[in-house]
Amino acid sequence: MALRIGDTAPDFSIDTTNGPIKLHEWANGSWVFFFSHPADYTPVCTTEMGRTSQLAPEFAQRNVKPLGLSTDTVEQHKGWIQDVNETQNTVLEFPIVADKELKIAQLYDMIHPNESVTATVRSVFIIDPNMKIRLMMTYPMTVGRNFDEILRVIDALQTTDKQEVACPADWRPGNPVIIRPTVSDEDAKKKFPQGWTTLKPYLRITELDK
Ligand code: BEZ
Repeated sequence: MALRIGDTAPDFSIDTTNGPIKLHEWANGSWVFFFSHPADYTPVCTTEMGRTSQLAPEFAQRNVKPLGLSTDTVEQHKGWIQDVNETQNTVLEFPIVADKELKIAQLYDMIHPNESVTATVRSVFIIDPNMKIRLMMTYPMTVGRNFDEILRVIDALQTTDKQEVACPADWRPGNPVIIRPTVSDEDAKKKFPQGWTTLKPYLRITELDK
């Protein structure tokens, strides 16, 4: 069965570079940025792992734990991490799942046979503290992900969890937001005392505290 937004992220137990983990227990109330990459000792993946490690303070500030995965072994991951640290000027500390038998890759549909039958594509799952899948993205093997977008979408999800708003195209933290069409003007007066601008009855823009 394909995974969908809102599904509970399938739990699993597996070995990682930081020892065995059980996903739901390991998350322990945090959000999870769960992402696969095609293989250790490959160039684009090296930059992605480096970027994730460099952004550790940004993920921590948002209560997000990164978790990588590829279909390599713990030993291979550990050897490669030294290259990541050396070339990307970082100290990688987050765990990387060793999914040599493709168990998790299959569970999360990370194998796209038109790319490879043994290696994972660049999948992203943003999982909330209730272990619900909140966002999925899939990139091909030859294109590295945009980590600004990953942080942006986490900020947007956390913002829309706090208030009945939606984030417009290219929204960034601090930008105006949209009052959800499901909120009546009468309710909006209570929920958004700062007021709003109505461009269309379904398109009401408001500012949140910065
Ligand atoms: C890379 O990470 O550079 C890569 C991995 C698999 C296919 C193409 C590129």
